[in-house]
Formats: sequence, C-alpha cells, structure tokens
Amino acid sequence: MARSDRFLNALRKMDVDCTPVWMMRQAGRYLEEYREIRSKYGFIEMCKNPELVLEVTMQPLRRFELDAAIIFADILLPLEHMGIDFEFTKDDGPQISNPVRTKDDVIKMREIYPEEQMGYLLKAIKMVRTELNGLVPLIGFSGAPFTLASYIIEGGGSKNYVCTKSMMYKEPETWHLLMEKLTDMVITYLNSQIKAGAQAVQVFDSWVGCLSPSDYKEFILPHQKRLMAGIDKSVPHIHFAFGASHLLKYVKEAGGDVIGLDWRIDIDEAWKIINYEAGVQGNLDPVALYGSKEYIKSRVYDILKRAGNRNGHVFNLGHGILPTTPVDNAKFLIDTVHELSRR
Ligand code: CP3
Repeated sequence: MARSDRFLNALRKMDVDCTPVWMMRQAGRYLEEYREIRSKYGFIEMCKNPELVLEVTMQPLRRFELDAAIIFADILLPLEHMGIDFEFTKDDGPQISNPVRTKDDVIKMREIYPEEQMGYLLKAIKMVRTELNGLVPLIGFSGAPFTLASYIIEGGGSKNYVCTKSMMYKEPETWHLLMEKLTDMVITYLNSQIKAGAQAVQVFDSWVGCLSPSDYKEFILPHQKRLMAGIDKSVPHIHFAFGASHLLKYVKEAGGDVIGLDWRIDIDEAWKIINYEAGVQGNLDPVALYGSKEYIKSRVYDILKRAGNRNGHVFNLGHGILPTTPVDNAKFLIDTVHELSRR
C-alpha cells in the first residue's frame, strides 16, 4: 500500500499497512526553518501569502514521514470578513478590538464569500496539492462555532469564559443567532476549501471543554450537528474537541467520521464510549515529546496497544505540538508509530 493511502483509508475505517500519523500544528515554531521565515514576516502576513503558505506547509513533510499535510492558516482568518478586527500580539495570542457583546453586534456580522475574499487560502491549497503531487493528502480546517464565538465575545483567549457563558445564559436568543451565523460561515468556509482541493477537513473545537454536558446539549449540539451535516461528504470529516472527554457522547452525536481526542482519556475507553461508530484520532500528550526516547516509545506502544490495530485510528498528539519541542523527538515519534504499528 502506498503511503499516500494510509491517512484517508484510516479516516474511512479501511485497512492500512501501518497506523497513519500527523501532528496538530506540525508547521510552526518548533521548526527553525519556520522561525527563520517568521522573523521576516508577520503571522497574518504569512497566512495571506500563498508562496509562504506553500513553503511552511511543506516544511514538516521534508523532515518527517508524516501521512498528511495540513494547510497553514488560522481559525480566526475568516472572521475578518464577518467584520471582526483582530491582531496577533507577541505574547497574548489573538486580540479582537471590536468584541461581539450585543444582539446588534451579532446582527451586524456579515456572511463570507471565500472565493472572493480568501483567494489567498484557496490558491495556497491548490499550490500545495500540486507540490504534494499525491505524496500524502492535504487537510483543510476551521474552528468550530463555539470556539470562534468564545474569541469574538471575550475579545481574545479566556480563562473562565464569563462573557461567553453570560450571553448563553442571559440572552439565549442572541447566542443562538450568533451560533447560526458562525455555523453558516464554517460550512461555506470548509466547502470552499474542499472545492479548492482539501482532501479531508478537521473542525477544531478547542475551548468547548469549558462547558457542562447539559450546556453542550442545549447551546452547542444543534448547531454542531447542522455544521457537521453541512460539510461536503466527498471528503472525510474529523471533529476534534479539546478537553472534552466528559462531552464525548454528544461530540460523537454531533458528527464526524473521526473524533479527535486529547490525552485526558484512554483511547480504548473513548472508543468504547462512542461505540466504535466513528474512528478516533490521538492521543499522545504533546509534553510527552519532552521525555526520553524510551519514554516516548512506551507511550506510543501503549496507545497503539489500546487502539488494537482496529481500523479507524489516526495517530496524533492530543493538542498542538509546542514551540519548544525537541525536533528530534518529533521525528522519533513519527517513525516509532509506523514501526510499532506495521500490520
Ligand atoms: O496544524 C498546523 O500546522 C496548521 C496551522 C494552524 C495554526 N493555527 C497556525 C498558527 C492551525 C490548525 C491553527 C488552529 C488554531 N488557531 C486553533 C485550533 C487549534 C488548537 O490549538 O486548539 C486555535 C485555538 C487558534 C488560535 C490561535 N492562533 C492562537 C490562540 C494563537 C496564539 C497562540 C500560539 O500558539 O501562538 C495562534 C497563532 C498561531 N496559529 C501560530 C501558528 C503557527 C503561531 C504564530 C506565530 O508564528 O507567532
């Protein structure tokens, strides 16, 4: 079997020659060749330059035997076209200067037209597909409505999500209107990426773990279900909710061919909770890559043993690779996953 088939076969629960592996945030600051380019350009500037996106997307693939590429972009990019103004500050991450707090703010948010407004990204997807030339598939992605809503309501990252939850609890109508608009946007956005050539898509619900199961059911599930059902079915969908082991049943109900897991739950237990009806992606703690090679190998062995060579497992970290990760250990991880999972 060709390396190029492993990832998509696993997403479709078909046979593989060994377990496919990629790493969230695999293009990024832990690579010196990324830092080199980043020293010359702003982050958003990089995202909007197709040549740089092509280069940075390919960087980790030159070093490691990864089984998928992920287009270099950010979950906040499409928000600009809805009328949200943001910038990335050096230490605090994204900062939004006009947070959405009232019904009027929500009403003012615009639809997006990716073909006209985000040509830079769609062009980059086409260029990466040409450059990959079938080596491995290309993943497109988006933030999920809750995670995007939390940024635009809080105005940046948050610890307790006080403003976000306040809107949910005090003004449910405004909340649902916002979620509807974001859901429409994400469907349009992902389908434009698929049309441009993305061969799988991942939805990142990075901060939804702050909710209780009943809140998820009431305030998120109907929208997330509509979202997952609205994505073009010609490619597989990965649904990653971080810190959300307590929500797994509902995350699975919302949809996705494969459910992304963090490291806070054992992969066999998670798979059982979702009744083996979807595949699973994960779930090594990114900080495990700071351990010794023996330690990394033992963690990989444990995850693979729990997944039991069952069809439908994609190996990944439980969250993005951290900027100070030893590159050598990332390479060791990729090679070890392949070696220990050979069928
Ligand atoms: O996985 C990949 O290699 C593709 C690239 C990618 C980036 N952001 C590039 C990036 C992806 C998939 C994302 C998604 C993203 N962005 C998420 C969801 C994934 C997750 O981590 O849960 C979130 C929450 C964001 C929002 C975001 N972007 C934050 C909070 C930050 C600042 C924190 C940080 O890591 O610096 C970013 C910036 C960002 N996005 C960087 C990269 C490579 C760092 C920018 C830099 O070079 O300074």
